[in-house]
Amino acid sequence: MIKLAPSILSADFNILGEQMEATKRAGATWAHFDVMDGSFVPQISFGNPVLRSLRKKTDLFLDVHLMVVNPERKIRSFADCGADMITFHYEATDDPGACIAAIEETGKKVGMAIKPGTPVEVVKPFINRLDMLLIMTVEPGFGGQKYIQASTNRIAKARQMFSEMGLDTDIEVDGGIKRDNVDVVLRAGATVIVAGSAVYSGDVYENARSFVDHFKEWDAAH
Ligand code: DX5
Ligand code: ZN
Repeated sequence: MIKLAPSILSADFNILGEQMEATKRAGATWAHFDVMDGSFVPQISFGNPVLRSLRKKTDLFLDVHLMVVNPERKIRSFADCGADMITFHYEATDDPGACIAAIEETGKKVGMAIKPGTPVEVVKPFINRLDMLLIMTVEPGFGGQKYIQASTNRIAKARQMFSEMGLDTDIEVDGGIKRDNVDVVLRAGATVIVAGSAVYSGDVYENARSFVDHFKEWDAAH
């Protein structure tokens, strides 16, 4: 099943709760939560208190994308604040295996992210331990960037790696995904689609609805 994970980074924070509810009414079941530390990436976004507050009001699956250095230090606190899945960056740690173990210990779903320049093969030693691989389709750091075309082959390669191991692990794509290029990543094998500006600018309900309806059709046809 293809899932939409609207990235709240592009939401209007004055009415964040309402906008997230609109995505839910439209059929979204996930929300993507981008944590930026001003070090792994240039910007600072939001962190634990915001997540804790959202968790109180929403039953959306909270997909936490940690763009922070030394993620192993932060995993426990994000789990305690209500994350359902925690995704760390392979490039942000000296010990990806320890990060995976730390997430496993919290009982949350395990995600690992790779930047556009990181070979997908780095995933191999950890392939059995991941619930999801996040393939960045822009350089992490900002919403509203353009999809990097070379990502398509990377998604396909990762999908093949999982298939060869008999795994149907989720592949999430993040960055520059719009209604008019989403089929490219679906065809390559992505199953979780992050969309920030494509959902949260303009009519949030209609934008989310358009993706969700399309994914239903896609699931029915595949
Ligand atoms: C970028 C973030 C993304 C961002 C995507 O570093 O990880 O989740 O919100 O935004 P769009 O969909 O606008 O490219
Ligand atoms: Zn993200």
